[in-house]
Amino acid sequence: MIILACDHAGYELKEQIKEFFNKENITTIDVGCYSTDSCDYPDFAKAGNEKVLEGANNVGIYICGTGIGMSIAANRNPKIRAALCTNVNFAMLARKHNDANVLVLPGRYINRTRAIRLIKVFLTTNFEGGRHLRRIKKLKGA
Ligand code: RB5
Repeated sequence: MIILACDHAGYELKEQIKEFFNKENITTIDVGCYSTDSCDYPDFAKAGNEKVLEGANNVGIYICGTGIGMSIAANRNPKIRAALCTNVNFAMLARKHNDANVLVLPGRYINRTRAIRLIKVFLTTNFEGGRHLRRIKKLKGA
């Protein structure tokens, strides 16, 4: 399942992404926010994390203005590996090397087309395991 979360600065892009998934007949869970009224990204990172962790194959897409606040907030949960990505290589490597379960996008600095391109790559790239698994296991002690 794909979980969408945003703050007011990510709302517009989140709606565009939701519409993209709807057209593809892919179900998403939208934990908010639901308007451009000012709100606090930690609330939505928390709501998103809770849903992402309900299913082993769940993936989150979180959006705030820069993506930085959502990344910091989401990564407070030790089971979440949230990666702020602005290009296709980052989106690919976030999955291959980091087994990221949340893609974070900067709503104010990325357009719909590029966001969808990153999302497609993120959702279709597998974790490589091996030495990268060893490193992920060490994150516990970081
Ligand atoms: C909201 O103005 C903005 O600070 C927020 O969306 C995000 O960019 C924080 O990191």
